[in-house]
Amino acid sequence: MRAVDIIRAKRDGGTLSAEQIEWMVGGIARGDVADYQWSALLMAILLKGMSGEETSALTMAMMRSGSIVDLSMFPGLKVDKHSTGGVGDKTSLILAPIAAAAGVPVPMVSGRGLGHTGGTLDKLESIPGFRTDLDLDGYRRVLRECGLVMIGQTAEIAPADKYLYGMRDATATVESIPLIAASIMSKKLAEGIDGLVLDVKTGNGAFMAKLEDARALAEAMCGIGRSMGKRITALITRMEQPLGLMVGNSLEVIESVECLNGGGPKDLMDLSLELAAEMVLLGGKAKSLEEARTTCRRVVDSGEALERFRRLVAAQGGDPTSLDDFSRLPTARSREDVVSPESGYVQRLAAWPIGHATMLLGAGRTRMDQGVDHAVGLCLQAKEGDFVKSGEPLCTLHYNDATRLTEAVAAVRSAFQIGPEPLSPADVIIDRLAD
Ligand code: URA
Repeated sequence: MRAVDIIRAKRDGGTLSAEQIEWMVGGIARGDVADYQWSALLMAILLKGMSGEETSALTMAMMRSGSIVDLSMFPGLKVDKHSTGGVGDKTSLILAPIAAAAGVPVPMVSGRGLGHTGGTLDKLESIPGFRTDLDLDGYRRVLRECGLVMIGQTAEIAPADKYLYGMRDATATVESIPLIAASIMSKKLAEGIDGLVLDVKTGNGAFMAKLEDARALAEAMCGIGRSMGKRITALITRMEQPLGLMVGNSLEVIESVECLNGGGPKDLMDLSLELAAEMVLLGGKAKSLEEARTTCRRVVDSGEALERFRRLVAAQGGDPTSLDDFSRLPTARSREDVVSPESGYVQRLAAWPIGHATMLLGAGRTRMDQGVDHAVGLCLQAKEGDFVKSGEPLCTLHYNDATRLTEAVAAVRSAFQIGPEPLSPADVIIDRLAD
């Protein structure tokens, strides 16, 4: 085979065979397909698309580029959750211990925040001592001890994705539904899972701003998973305003613990419980979604879910006492309130500028090789539909470095629209795609 023929076929709108795709992906490790050939193929895929079969073949080839973790020694169906990312999205920290306490083994491989969105690994690493860089033996050990494990992508999992993702970033080819679906699913399917719950977000704070694109991505990922015999459910959820009230790494750990303690904001808790219930259903620990919801509520009320999270923190080297005494978590030195310019109802609270403000404070990164400040972020005092009085705080920024504070305050101000009309916030869950 020759790369140039494969690139030409896709450039001209043709369909690639599974063998051609496998050969191109294999070329990354063999070293006989040049970077410029892969970048040309990526652009041809972005412009011409891929069929469901081609997308599945690409996913499988990327998955097979590394190890496929064997978790068959653990009884039961192993289920993970993947979110396409948003602002204030800390559901993984809440739902993984809930599903594990309900009896579903949760082997979770997560990512870091990029741009305006946060990442589970950065949040977990704000817990003093918590290690997310376990190798595969450590991954299995913690899963055995706790019934759940939360790590970052290891060098063994889907290395072709690492190469292709870097190339897409540099060649303006990230925004392709088949490439995104193959990238996400190749990593998830290599984790050794039996089932996966997808939280595909749409809205101004999401990767897929338009609902039809989010639906197409959800359908593509469900199709890939099912073609591999996995149990998959996708929820399409609204990311117009941030989820919960806290945005920033250690602040989001605090809000997650509040949820596991039975408190926490309603939108965040409702979505976390619903995603956890979908995991419990896929894991075969309930006969109906209603029964799964009851089980999830029960393990929160009994404290079993929080206890699971404490065990996980200790097993991964973290300080579990920081979950009871939040002063042991990284805390910012200074605070600044943004107040409402008028009295009225919050008509809109846009997620993107809130995520952007948090990144300006240092909680996020613009390049993958940057570090983050775990202590900084912001705490919202009002969300869509809430009544606020003129001069009352809308949001408190927690910061260490004032260099970009003015810019961050301006971003937070631009996120809020206040008006006289009362309104009820829209439902977070827009749709459910299940077998
Ligand atoms: N997340 C991924 O893992 N891959 C993509 O392509 C986009 C988001």
